[in-house]
Amino acid sequence: MRPEAVAYIIVIGALIVGAAVLLRVAGRRSAAPGPKVEKVPAALRPGDPDDVLESDRLGKIQWLGAAMSIAFAAFIAIYWLQEAGRMRGKEELFLEISVERGAAYYQAGEGTVEGAAVVGLDCARCHGKDLEGGENTFFDPTQGAQRTVAVPELRGVFARYDTPPPGYGDAEEYILATIERGRTDGIIGVPYDMPNWSNKYGGPLTEQQIADLVNFLKSVQGTGGEDDGAEPTLDGKAIFDQNCAPCHGIGGAGGVGPAFVGGSAATQFPDIEDHIEFVKMGSQRGVPYGTSGQGTGGMPPWQGRLTDEQIRAVVEYERSL
Ligand code: HEC
Ligand code: HEC
Repeated sequence: MRPEAVAYIIVIGALIVGAAVLLRVAGRRSAAPGPKVEKVPAALRPGDPDDVLESDRLGKIQWLGAAMSIAFAAFIAIYWLQEAGRMRGKEELFLEISVERGAAYYQAGEGTVEGAAVVGLDCARCHGKDLEGGENTFFDPTQGAQRTVAVPELRGVFARYDTPPPGYGDAEEYILATIERGRTDGIIGVPYDMPNWSNKYGGPLTEQQIADLVNFLKSVQGTGGEDDGAEPTLDGKAIFDQNCAPCHGIGGAGGVGPAFVGGSAATQFPDIEDHIEFVKMGSQRGVPYGTSGQGTGGMPPWQGRLTDEQIRAVVEYERSL
């Protein structure tokens, strides 16, 4: 039962009892007066003698007192037992509403959450309506020219930073910093392609709004979106665009990671099996790879995140560039 309903029942009950008492008193007053009796105020009347006071009456009052003490004790115990569950329920409810707000912020346009208007922020314009990733064309003042970059998908972003970059405690901290401060070419705080959002860094959003967005992202991790339950794609280009392009550029144009042009991948790894092995294991700082590669530890391992078939497909795509 909702707490309001309980409160209403108590108040209406009290009103009915009160009205009944008043009616009874009024009824007695208006009853025909009997013979006049001398009225002695209670305080002036003789008190009950000991044999009355120390009778059942005392016992009854003591029993009543004990019963009420037990009732209060039980009430507090029951209230206390319920409290943890009630708090947990509230936490879940608040999280649910936060996720709803985050989802509304993510999408373009306006929506309502719990009756309040929420203005969309259009993360969807760049990251895709279904968080599937996309492209962004923007003016890069450092190069004085327009650039088009791949925008990462966001349904696997927490797993991507299972091992967060140095300086960050966990994936959430790094993702939060990215949303707060923006990021370009992997550098946080350079907000040309991924804008800065926090009002702490000159953006439009409050801490609560950013927390809502992070809660929303967390709630959709590992869900496949509209093609939920579908087989993982074996289209090498699609796998590349989604997983590799954020570092290696669209079409392998290069970025944080080297470019793949003119069959450079096949020059680096004459044997395709070595290429596959490298993509599975990633690079390590100071460890050379391929014909002339020098690892910096910047290339993440893909084993476990992509299936063997997907890795082969994306490697074949890289070799075809
Ligand atoms: C103008 C296009 C654009 C908009 C709008 C945008 N983003 Fe981004 N976002 C990017 C790009 C580009 C990157 C990749 C930047 C990089 O790593 O150099 C990125 C990266 C991210 C990342 C890190 C992903 C990863 O794999 O490293 C998160 C999380 C993120 N954005 C969340 C958001 C949220 C939440 C919003 C809405 C408030 C938003 N973005 C709006 C372009 C955009
Ligand atoms: C977080 C950024 C990042 C992502 C994402 C990434 N790479 Fe890399 N990759 C690098 C870096 C950086 C290097 C250069 C090696 C180094 O610095 O250790 C590299 C090197 C490579 C090389 C060797 C290229 C050469 O010519 O030396 C191949 C092949 C490669 N990556 C394939 C992939 C594939 C396939 C994916 C997607 C499944 C991928 N990478 C995703 C950062 C990344």
